Amino acid sequence: MKEVRIGLLGAGTVGSQVARILSEQNRELSERAGANLVLSGVAVRDVSKTREGIDPALITDDIERVIQEADLVIELMGGMEPARSAMLAALNQGKTVVTGNKAVLAAHGPELNEAAEAHDASLYFEAAVAGAVPVVYGLRESLAGDRINQVLGIVNGTTNFILDQMTTQGWSYEQALKVAQDLGYAEADPSADVEGHDAAAKCAILASLAFHTRVSIADVPTKGITDITAEDIEQAREAGYAVKLLAKAQRVLVDGVEQIALGVEPTLVPLTHPLAGINGPYNAIVLETEFAGRLMFYGAGAGGAPTASAVLSDVVAGAGHIAHGGHAPRESVYADLPICEPGKV
Ligand code: NDP
Ligand code: HSE
Repeated sequence: MKEVRIGLLGAGTVGSQVARILSEQNRELSERAGANLVLSGVAVRDVSKTREGIDPALITDDIERVIQEADLVIELMGGMEPARSAMLAALNQGKTVVTGNKAVLAAHGPELNEAAEAHDASLYFEAAVAGAVPVVYGLRESLAGDRINQVLGIVNGTTNFILDQMTTQGWSYEQALKVAQDLGYAEADPSADVEGHDAAAKCAILASLAFHTRVSIADVPTKGITDITAEDIEQAREAGYAVKLLAKAQRVLVDGVEQIALGVEPTLVPLTHPLAGINGPYNAIVLETEFAGRLMFYGAGAGGAPTASAVLSDVVAGAGHIAHGGHAPRESVYADLPICEPGKV
């Protein structure tokens, strides 16, 4: 079997689980890819930390070298830089990139996709939206024959966990956030979670995929959960509602012109709605489609191993293409739909 060399950028909550599963399941993953998967380098910030299960000889802080020595680069550093430049460098060298970095994708997706296309490279990002839940694959591939009218979902595990624990366990907001951080659900800067920016990035990615138009994080009006109290949640429940941080993207007609309405905000969800029962770090996305009707994607939205599962599914697909030809689905942008002004619908 052809060897595919894998460079891992980042070995934190998700990267360490990717390295572990890649090692423990190497034979099966390689068989599925039809290629011998070999971890060729691991870039981190602090090379002095002990990294259980990773050969110390592979650890470095030299991101450029890890990229150069790999056929496939997994970016799991998070944040904007050096993640964006590293992915761009890899794509410009014609390499396959797998990432979970929704922040970069939602701000610089077009630049990355153009580099992939120009250099016959591949960009995979299943882990960037809803952790283990295969909604990116669903929109990019399974639903390519349909027309999506609305995307509605709980796409941030940290905030869903916090809202849940504040009521079911009676924890304070601070206590719940601390546990979400300890369990590896939160972003390195958790304000991205609680202020709604992480959900807004995912909303932009989902809307771009669903409506084949370009949506950036800057297009998504966003409100987080920092003002929500346990009393608010309790009062809502007594009135028959759950409070959920929802991301919403839908086609709307404004003065006869089709537009995209977007938003992320805490929302009262009737207790009878399927999203009301999604608790803990779980995510769920409900798609309203023209032909298939309503579809719901549900599962673990955050955490090391669930997210590693999504990353490794992209690794298997990407390594398969490297070994046997082909590339990731190209960005499918052909509809230039205006973004609806907030308050118009
Ligand atoms: P962590 O903060 O746990 O890990 C980040 C890793 O990247 C660490 O190993 C860190 O090194 C390394 N790193 C950071 N900056 C640099 C740098 N400048 N140079 C080299 N290495 C660097 O993040 P997560 O694993 O939680 O998240 C990684 C990505 O996955 C993010 O984009 C996140 O949004 C995304 N994601 C995370 C999920 C989760 O549940 N945690 C779920 C879905 C997506 P060191 O170890 O030395 O500090
Ligand atoms: N911090 C993110 C969340 C990780 O809580 O959903 C998964 O993208």
